Amino acid sequence: MDQQQRQEIYETAKNWIYEAGEQIREHMNEPLGIETKSNANDLVTVLDKQTEKFFVDRIHQVYPDHHIIGEEGFGDTLTNVDGTVWIIDPIDGTMNFVHQKRTFAISIGILHNGVGEIGFIYDVMGDILYHVKRGEGAFKNDVQLAPLDKEKKLSESIIGMNHFWLCENRLVDYTVMQKFVRTVRGTRSHGSASLELAYIAEGVQDAYLALSLSPWDVAAGIILNQEVGGITGDIDGNPWNPLKRSSILVANPAIHDEIVGFIKEGRK
Ligand code: IPD
Ligand code: CA
Ligand code: CA
Repeated sequence: MDQQQRQEIYETAKNWIYEAGEQIREHMNEPLGIETKSNANDLVTVLDKQTEKFFVDRIHQVYPDHHIIGEEGFGDTLTNVDGTVWIIDPIDGTMNFVHQKRTFAISIGILHNGVGEIGFIYDVMGDILYHVKRGEGAFKNDVQLAPLDKEKKLSESIIGMNHFWLCENRLVDYTVMQKFVRTVRGTRSHGSASLELAYIAEGVQDAYLALSLSPWDVAAGIILNQEVGGITGDIDGNPWNPLKRSSILVANPAIHDEIVGFIKEGRK
């Protein structure tokens, strides 16, 4: 994808994101039609579905040869990431959206032949857009994000992770993770994976680890972090696979290997 194509797609997608955000804010106090998916806490609303459909319809119209991976099923079933692929989470943080009416985002990552080219994470209620074009900088609204601090110490780091790491789980011995949380300065759990990753790129959080996430949860955040020097992949240090659900570790480069060290110690 050349710079001109990237710019054109970026501008178009950005306008659609602002329009979709406006729609969500306008309709969020109407009945949400809440349903559950894989389990009782996995929520979806009519606005999740309508927002994904909004993007899919427009992409089909304007870019008929592009492919789409979307959470709510309006996209394609892909076996490879050849060509241009939009990876869409229409509302990331639906539980926050339903219960708290804040801290949720529209998250869109755009790849070309497997390379992350464009990313958007739009905090809808904060009206804050994190955005990136590969090689052209990452931004929070109009402010360019600085490269991540290479001097960061783990003992002074804030780590995004949820409580499941400290419960019996299938991946890592939780007693090792208890030792880990006592080593770091603090932990946070924001309930929206895309925003967790945006906060790392912004430098206000230093890592995020998750036991199992889908491509749409993290695509945009991975592209954003790659631009500012964050290390992205799974908890074993393997590269991210846009076609697979997997564990996720995104971290400031100064603390990444130490975190992997803890995980290795407790890995099952
Ligand atoms: C969820 C959020 C949440 C993460 C979950 C995801 P959704 O996405 O990113 O932070 O812990 O695993 O499923 O369902 O609200 O789009
Ligand atoms: Ca999500
Ligand atoms: Ca979602």
